[in-house]
Amino acid sequence: MPLDMVIGAQWGDEGKGRVVDLLSANSHLVARVNGGDNAGHTVTVGEETYKLHLIPSGIIHPSTIGVMGTGMVINPFTLVEEIEMLRKAGIEISPDRLWISDAAHLITPLHRLLDRAKDAALGAAQIGTTGRGIGPAYTDKAARRGLRAGEILDAEHFASRVRDHLQEGNRQLVEWYGQPATDIEGMAEDFLNKAAELRPYIRRIGPLVKSALDADQSVLVEGAQGTLLDIEQGTYPFVTSSFTVAGGVPNALGIGLYPARRIIGVVKAFQTRVGAGPFPTELDGAIAGHLRGTGENPWDEFGTTTGRPRRVGWLDLVLLRYTHEVNGFSELFITKLDVLSGLDEIQVCTRYRRRGRELETLDFSGDARLLDECEPMYEILPGWNADLRGCRSWDDLPKAAQAYIRFIEQRIGIRAAYISVGPERTDLLIGA
Ligand code: IMP
Repeated sequence: MPLDMVIGAQWGDEGKGRVVDLLSANSHLVARVNGGDNAGHTVTVGEETYKLHLIPSGIIHPSTIGVMGTGMVINPFTLVEEIEMLRKAGIEISPDRLWISDAAHLITPLHRLLDRAKDAALGAAQIGTTGRGIGPAYTDKAARRGLRAGEILDAEHFASRVRDHLQEGNRQLVEWYGQPATDIEGMAEDFLNKAAELRPYIRRIGPLVKSALDADQSVLVEGAQGTLLDIEQGTYPFVTSSFTVAGGVPNALGIGLYPARRIIGVVKAFQTRVGAGPFPTELDGAIAGHLRGTGENPWDEFGTTTGRPRRVGWLDLVLLRYTHEVNGFSELFITKLDVLSGLDEIQVCTRYRRRGRELETLDFSGDARLLDECEPMYEILPGWNADLRGCRSWDDLPKAAQAYIRFIEQRIGIRAAYISVGPERTDLLIGA
């Protein structure tokens, strides 16, 4: 009955795909539970590398079933494209291998138009969304007028709901945001045709996931985004519109309060963020350039979904303590340790100073305005020069790199189960 979760411990892009790749080969089910095609997971199949935004990346293993949970928002255009891309790569995708929750919500082209228009209208207060329609789709869900995947199964009802939605969205686009009206009829037809392709995959997933767990089959949850982007616990309002934390997972699978065996917090050895919002340890200049990379390599710090250069900074242990508190991580997976090679010294934020007081963890729930008042306080650790990519065991790491990992473990109070030291699948070692 093992339920394991891979959860981002920062602002997303922590390298969750690495641990999913490692663990999904032995999982019966691999599930996405939140978000939509704002996420981007890079998957390697043989010599080829693919970017998946919706389908759980664990599906590349032939015996694994991919589950798309209730908490997701699904753009049928992106999903059909991914299904076709995986098929071309020789990966069988059938309704036996891909299950879409009937309660997952759908993203339409109008959600995407509204997302962009709405963020642009915020001017200086922009969130910097991915423009994928995520916010408007979750807005409709919360407003109880969203389109659910299960509705696709009743064609007549669904066609009328889609047309009503497009009409209302079009009205908002024109009246609220001064945008030109769109051709709703053409859009409705394309959308209905695309959505109909998903029919065979849609079902109630809760009982299926529960019976897998009851049969002692392992279920791996592939979290999307990161804890600091969670709608409730994140750096509000600079967050995504869904949950991203471990606590939301059982509900998004419809399995009741099921205990997790492992909650793996994935944390980059430094800190990155895409989009706007507070970032206390943010850097610019030469060290930022070192951490970000040039953009020539796929693993440099440029968004998988948007291509935007990521903001970068030193590791922030105040925020990591906070994300550990709100998730209850069983262990950490520390990624991109190799990127720190070549720095003379490494700074780590261990406390904040705010309104004359020192904080070791947040005494407020992520509020962006309050986080802006926090001044990071650093401890300095020695750097190392060796290239870590050849390291395959703890003992291969330079002493200073070991000390860096130990420092994080001690300050957070949990073990680093895995450490990644390069972009290749095998550039990985088990913590000591
Ligand atoms: P949205 O999810 O497109 O509404 O964007 C809201 C915020 O979350 C923006 O700052 C995005 O850059 C950020 N965001 C959304 N998805 C991801 C992700 O997968 N990785 C990193 N940041 C993300």
